[in-house]
Amino acid sequence: MDSNKRPDDMVRITTKELADKFIEEQIALIRQQVGSRKVLLALSGGVDSSVVAALLIRAIGQQLVCVHVNHGLMRKGESEQVVEVFRKQLGANLIYIDATDRFLDKLAGVADPEQKRKIIGGEFIRVFEEEARKLTDVDFLAQGTIYPDIVESVGVKAHHNVGGLPPDLHFELVEPVKLLFKDEVRVIGTALGLPDSMVNRQPFPGPGLGVRCTGAITRDRLAALRESDAILREEFDRAGLTKSVWQFFTVVPDYRSTGVRDSKRVFDWPVIIRAVNTRDAMTAVVPEIDWAVLKKITDRILAEVPGVCRVLYDLSPKGPATIEWE
Ligand code: XMP
Repeated sequence: MDSNKRPDDMVRITTKELADKFIEEQIALIRQQVGSRKVLLALSGGVDSSVVAALLIRAIGQQLVCVHVNHGLMRKGESEQVVEVFRKQLGANLIYIDATDRFLDKLAGVADPEQKRKIIGGEFIRVFEEEARKLTDVDFLAQGTIYPDIVESVGVKAHHNVGGLPPDLHFELVEPVKLLFKDEVRVIGTALGLPDSMVNRQPFPGPGLGVRCTGAITRDRLAALRESDAILREEFDRAGLTKSVWQFFTVVPDYRSTGVRDSKRVFDWPVIIRAVNTRDAMTAVVPEIDWAVLKKITDRILAEVPGVCRVLYDLSPKGPATIEWE
């Protein structure tokens, strides 16, 4: 039987009971596969790797070594949440690496979007590899591969085109959710007790805020991006839009625009709000957001985020526009 093929009669996991059954089965399988040896996992804080981490903590506890690499392009509070949930609440064996300076130094002056993606992806592998080499007794690598990653040649994770670990680091793979669809992974995550904000997290690209701070990334624009994105998320949450809008974020382009502050002309950054609804990310439409919500977000960004004098709402569907700005 092809272990990468979901059996036609496999029940869709939609309830806590079905999730608990799956969790029990996987715990037994993981223990059987791993025995008393150690497993390494790159824990990004995304839904898939978080669910795999929680499952493995249940199955093998401290034999799981999680590595969270903060590339400095995470959203506000995201790395902190990973540490809080996994180290403090679930007692995970978690190595946290703040590699912000390393990534931003490598990215300095690089404006081409694909080059930026390559640098971020390549550097991520190198940081992870360095940690893996420090741990001498690890035989397994756990991954949050899900079924659409196996069957689809295009789609969200297909963008992760950065190669893998070098061949001399040969780990046996542990991929407990590889036959599941995203909605099933979320049900499992909830059953494992992960917080709602983690389980229902919207898609976040591997290169993170790096592709939303367009052109060559600078620390001041990155800070404006992170703060404006946090305000957008807070206000969408308040307006009950977090679950009904598929993906939303802000973008800070690499050109300035004229504004006026304290009767003086300023030359500051614009912030663009992007919100889309889609089924498969191949096409997307822009939701009609209540004017009062957009106005409140605009007022807050202009008042609270230094260096910003203008806020725009991107009305372009995909296609011809893509969801991300680069
Ligand atoms: P686009 O911009 O191509 O985005 O319409 C479609 C979906 O893919 C996500 N995306 C990425 N995900 N690495 C990722 O892991 C990337 O480089 C990347 N670029 C875009 C995007 O957020 C959207 O959900």
